Amino acid sequence: MIAIIGGTGPEGSGLALRWARAGESIVIGSRDASRAQAAAAQIAAKAGALGSVEGLENSQAVKMCDVVVLTVPFSGQAELLKQLKPSFRPGTVLIDATVPLAAAVGGRPTRLLGVWQGSAAEQAAEIVGKNVTVAAAFHSLSATVLDGDHDVDCDVIVCSDDDRARTLASELAVKIPGVRAVDGGKLENARIVEAITALLITLNIRHKVHGAGLRITGLGI
Ligand SMILES: NC(=O)c1ccc[n+]([C@@H]2O[C@H](COP(=O)([O-])OP(=O)(O)OC[C@H]3O[C@@H](n4cnc5c(N)ncnc54)[C@H](OP(=O)(O)O)[C@@H]3O)[C@@H](O)[C@H]2O)c1
Repeated sequence: MIAIIGGTGPEGSGLALRWARAGESIVIGSRDASRAQAAAAQIAAKAGALGSVEGLENSQAVKMCDVVVLTVPFSGQAELLKQLKPSFRPGTVLIDATVPLAAAVGGRPTRLLGVWQGSAAEQAAEIVGKNVTVAAAFHSLSATVLDGDHDVDCDVIVCSDDDRARTLASELAVKIPGVRAVDGGKLENARIVEAITALLITLNIRHKVHGAGLRITGLGI
């Protein structure tokens, strides 16, 4: 089962929709259980009969799952992870999609905040500690594109210091039709991948679109 913390928002709901359609069992996490249940019901109705989607308060969702995907604004990431830390099962893989956009603190969505640890993903890893392994992924997937029926024309760059976390995140990425997973090396590279999202937002604005994505060429994969 996959818990999606912040799954009531557009990014988490979009990922949940695609994974439910691929037959996965999803638990939508929210700070409010009834909001989680309402979002889960909407996603399940859109996804059809294949996977299951339920909704729980964030800490209950984390307790139930060995794979946890984090899709919350950067402004709430650290505090939320500190609250959730005691609820993680030992060996949980945390897949972080947080982008430290300045918009999270009232700034521009095209600018990135400086993070002391180097990236939002490294901040997450520092907070959750050694019992939880972290991969950074899904930053370049637009929620608008996920919330549709078409294949997603985008690579997902996965960064992690842990092979199992990298593999799990990559396996989840390729369950989304059209997506290719690209090994992006160590977790420290998440700072580069997170920054690309700010550029994609600029491209959306300049080209008047909502779903700019990313393809890496020349890898032979
Ligand atoms: N939107 C995109 O296209 C996209 C693409 C790539 C990456 N991302 C990244 O993915 C993350 C989520 O994006 P989003 O657009 O879905 O964000 P969002 O709608 O602003 O937030 C997602 C959910 O996070 C929870 N949340 C909000 N503030 C919180 C706080 N202070 N503490 C704890 N939980 C909080 C809310 O759920 P509850 O109120 O139900 O708890 C909310 O529904 C962001 O870091 C974003 O940069 C987004």
